[in-house]
Amino acid sequence: MKKFIFGLIVGLLIPAIGGYFYIKLGMMPVATASAPLPMEEKIAKMALKARISKEAPKSSPVTADETNMTQGAHVYVENCAFCHGFAGEKASFAAKGMFPLPPQLLSEDMVTDDPVGVTFWKVENGIRLTGMPGFKDMLTPTQMWQVSQMLAQADKLPVQTKAALAKPAAIAVAAPSTAPAPPEQQKTKRK
Ligand code: HEC
Repeated sequence: MKKFIFGLIVGLLIPAIGGYFYIKLGMMPVATASAPLPMEEKIAKMALKARISKEAPKSSPVTADETNMTQGAHVYVENCAFCHGFAGEKASFAAKGMFPLPPQLLSEDMVTDDPVGVTFWKVENGIRLTGMPGFKDMLTPTQMWQVSQMLAQADKLPVQTKAALAKPAAIAVAAPSTAPAPPEQQKTKRK
């Protein structure tokens, strides 16, 4: 019995000490460009899914009509496109330097399969340690539902809503000239 307890203590201590030195010696990845830890994304996704399935509203008080979705498009262009990009864009300006990457919600990584309440939850609460902000204090619940409804229909938007999602000319022109040149070492690493 004594041996067993001794073994148990040592068995628990070694990983704890190992973990401490792993972090203390600066080996833990902290830069956005570092490779993910094994299981890092899997564990983060599991935690998020479990929490959301508990809390996400099951139905929307805002309908997916053209007016609401067009309002949602304005909310998107002003608050989300910097990270989540415009239609047809491969990666937004910010999407090149973040970890995890913000999915491009109007082109490659649509959330049209997600229940609208799940998207609403993410917009309202944000996703901790990812750069996805919670908009609870910045947008009204109606605005958050409008943008969530728009994203839920992103593959079949009415013409008026699509037009409201176009990249504003000011951004299209200003972005390349005001963009600071990326540091040398990043230039070589990133596609
Ligand atoms: C500063 C950058 C940033 C802004 C601004 C931002 N997001 Fe995000 N968002 C992210 C990142 C990064 C993720 C990925 C998080 C992850 O991998 O878990 C994300 C994830 C999401 C997701 C989950 C996507 C999925 O595939 O499950 C949704 C939905 C979303 N954002 C909607 C929005 C909306 C709507 C807005 C504007 C109201 C917005 N975001 C503004 C960075 C941003």
